[in-house]
Amino acid sequence: MSGEGLIAEPRPMPGGTGAGRLAELMKRGTDFLGCQTAIMGGAMSWVSERNLVSAISNAGGFGVIACGAMTPELLDTEIAETKKRTSKPFGVNLITMHPDLDALIDICARHEVGHIVLAGGLPPGKAIERIKGNGAKLIAFAPALALAKKLKRSGVDALVVEGMEAGGHIGPVSTSVLAQEILPAMAEEIPVFVAGGIGRGEAIAAYLEMGAVGVQIGTRLVCATESIAHENFKKMFIRASARDAIPSVQIDPRLPVIPVRALKNREMENFAAKQREVADLLDKGSVEMAEAQLQIEHYWAGALKRAVIDGDVESGSVMAGQSVGMVKKEEPVADILAELMDEAAAALETRG
Ligand SMILES: Cc1cc2nc3c(=O)[nH]c(=O)nc-3n(C[C@H](O)[C@H](O)[C@H](O)COP(=O)(O)O)c2cc1C
Repeated sequence: MSGEGLIAEPRPMPGGTGAGRLAELMKRGTDFLGCQTAIMGGAMSWVSERNLVSAISNAGGFGVIACGAMTPELLDTEIAETKKRTSKPFGVNLITMHPDLDALIDICARHEVGHIVLAGGLPPGKAIERIKGNGAKLIAFAPALALAKKLKRSGVDALVVEGMEAGGHIGPVSTSVLAQEILPAMAEEIPVFVAGGIGRGEAIAAYLEMGAVGVQIGTRLVCATESIAHENFKKMFIRASARDAIPSVQIDPRLPVIPVRALKNREMENFAAKQREVADLLDKGSVEMAEAQLQIEHYWAGALKRAVIDGDVESGSVMAGQSVGMVKKEEPVADILAELMDEAAAALETRG
């Protein structure tokens, strides 16, 4: 299922008045990203690498490399390999707590990456300065209205508003509520992309009408032909329904868990048992608090790679959003984007 060597070509934009309206609503987004359709491929660790990212950009969307825990050398290679596969713009997603964040930012600058997405908490001022100083546009996640305002003040160029329907690490609030809180207040001041739970074009049309300049999708792209995700990972997505994509649950208030939405599997069940076991050891005083918290924090280390790359979907983490129920088959990125755009245009057309 490797996407190596596959080049997706952009499809013609849908025609008709709905399509015209769609292009109009996406204009700020496409101008900002420098691509044809304001659909960003959300960075997904291990999945959003050279093949999928270049395919998304070649299909007219905006691919984003997931740097995750990559070293600066690995990111350097990944960007270079992506550039060999596309001449279109793409971005890089960096995690703020990466120990080599500055070096990663400089690698992006050396490759003249135009857009950096900073994930994993509020971006530190130093990183913002460095990115902007290098001339790149900075995109950050706004998990609440107050933070959206703060990010705008600190010089961020665009926001992603991502709700808890999304796959991967999630906050507590749904996309629909965040969109209602943030779009009316911020949409005119700064480009806002909406993410989380978007599986069809009708939803894209609705968020654009609310003021978003575009969207970010992840789950819908995992089973793209060009995605290198293991066959087992893709099969699990195709079989799953929305209710199978559940957040990891914290069992004990002393042992913090950052919720991750993933498909139910054996390891999700084991995680609850592990938390109970560690809490028990804490109660008995046979383990220190710091050590107990570390055991929980490290529990999922390597789990996403195990599932995505090795295909071990029972002991790995099969991160997926609730839109997984709308993933029906493996198909080229260009077809996925064309379908979403057609649905969005048709929805706008009926609104007149
Ligand atoms: C398998 C998987 C891995 C992900 N890894 C990351 C990541 O490394 N960094 C990040 O910022 N977001 C990550 N995400 C979130 C996506 O970038 C995107 O925002 C999200 O998937 C959008 O919601 P949707 O899944 O409902 O489309 C991941 C999502 C999935 C499904």
